[in-house]
Amino acid sequence: MVSRVIPVDPFDLIIFGGTGDLARRKILPGLFRRFCSGQMPPNARIIGAARANLGQAGYQEMIRAAIAEFGAPTDVENAQLGAFLAQLNYVAIDIRGDGGWAELAAMVRKNLVNAYYFSVGPGLFGDIASRLNTWGIATPEARIVVEKPFGRDLESAKSLNAILSAQFDENQIYRIDHYLGKETVQNLMAVRFGNLLFEPLWNAQYIDHIQITVAEIVGVGGRGAYYDKSGAMRDMVQNHLMQLLCLIAMEPPSHFDPDAVRDEKLKVIRSLAKVEPHHVVRGQYDATATMPSYRDDAENPRSFTESYVAIKTHIENWRWAGVPFYLRTGKKLKARTSEIAIVFKKLPHSIFEKSSDEKQNVLSIQLQPNEGMTLDVTIKEPGPGGMRLIHVPLDMTFADALGEHSEDTPDAYERLIMDVIRGDQTLFMRGDEVEAAWKWTDPIINAWENRNDVPKIYDVGSVGPEDAMALIHRDGRRWREVK
Ligand code: BG6
Repeated sequence: MVSRVIPVDPFDLIIFGGTGDLARRKILPGLFRRFCSGQMPPNARIIGAARANLGQAGYQEMIRAAIAEFGAPTDVENAQLGAFLAQLNYVAIDIRGDGGWAELAAMVRKNLVNAYYFSVGPGLFGDIASRLNTWGIATPEARIVVEKPFGRDLESAKSLNAILSAQFDENQIYRIDHYLGKETVQNLMAVRFGNLLFEPLWNAQYIDHIQITVAEIVGVGGRGAYYDKSGAMRDMVQNHLMQLLCLIAMEPPSHFDPDAVRDEKLKVIRSLAKVEPHHVVRGQYDATATMPSYRDDAENPRSFTESYVAIKTHIENWRWAGVPFYLRTGKKLKARTSEIAIVFKKLPHSIFEKSSDEKQNVLSIQLQPNEGMTLDVTIKEPGPGGMRLIHVPLDMTFADALGEHSEDTPDAYERLIMDVIRGDQTLFMRGDEVEAAWKWTDPIINAWENRNDVPKIYDVGSVGPEDAMALIHRDGRRWREVK
């Protein structure tokens, strides 16, 4: 099959924090895969910038080891590793001082696409942004890439936005939410806006409710110190779940272009109803005979941080009036699954025997691990014996449907970095979106903090706390199975 990979323009990508965890686990292995697929041109260059005194050869060795550890390269890919590493350079830099900046300025080829990845804590954003300008490194076309967490509340997000926008225009700033880079998340837009079928049904008249689940098996791992100050609400809901909700609920943008899409997402966030205290459940995983508790993992025996959240919310506009959106996410749950389920209303009238019309159509969009969609439909059970109905899934697992095409699917980071190089901001969060999302989550978090809320306990390997079940059962509905 002819490769569909189109090489990007030659670039210099500078990674501040180039020796850090994210760079070694995700960014460099991702770039290597793009290199192997032919998307990274031979004269593109990646410049790691960090404090350590490594030199080019030392950095190349570090990244060789990182790719072996985190990239799971095939033999064919390994054969190309040397050529990829040759495109890596390094500068030892003192972000808060003067060391290394002149060297960086001399290294960057300003006539190419320039992208600066701030793979460092937000406390350093301002230092990097202002030095890029005072040293005359950043051009007006340069792009900067920043990671979450983008603030920890509205106030801190505003101040980060102010720090960045003092040096760069909004069209130069790429705020990453890696969920937007996932293949199926983008497919959500393709499904909604590339088919006639769904749009007429995509509203309160036909949809009973929507569930968004992001369940993880992993705990907080070695990130306890960060996570314990964040919790699931800041770590997952404010960004990833919010973005999923936007893509489901937004109005069709007039074009698939960055601001048209982001304008519509912003309207959704601004239309979210204030969440009632009894419509939120926080949980924290407890130890089992063999598994440590959240408090053990976070090394904080008195922690009240949530590792699980379930929320019921509404969108206050015509399309969604009265349709509940149930969101939940948690760590150390029974299975790793991310799913969006659109549950349609019951039939207004059944011509069949009562028992057979109970089931509702459900469009389930599976983000991971098995990317695909199923539509539960009612059909006649084959064979004689009268009109017996059964409910079956119309299954479209993307790997089956796309065959060998599915193999060149880049992971979220790979795709997003290539979008930065292409200058496409569609899958990045705009500053006003991030602020609006904090504006919605802040009162929920503040209410917990003000009353010293104690999270409900759930067992490792379960589906979450009992109260989260009650949250949806009270409405006569059930969570989708976590499997
Ligand atoms: C990150 C969170 O943004 O997303 C992690 O900080 C979480 O806590 C991760 O585990 C989940 O991402 P994915 O792609 O594995 O679903």
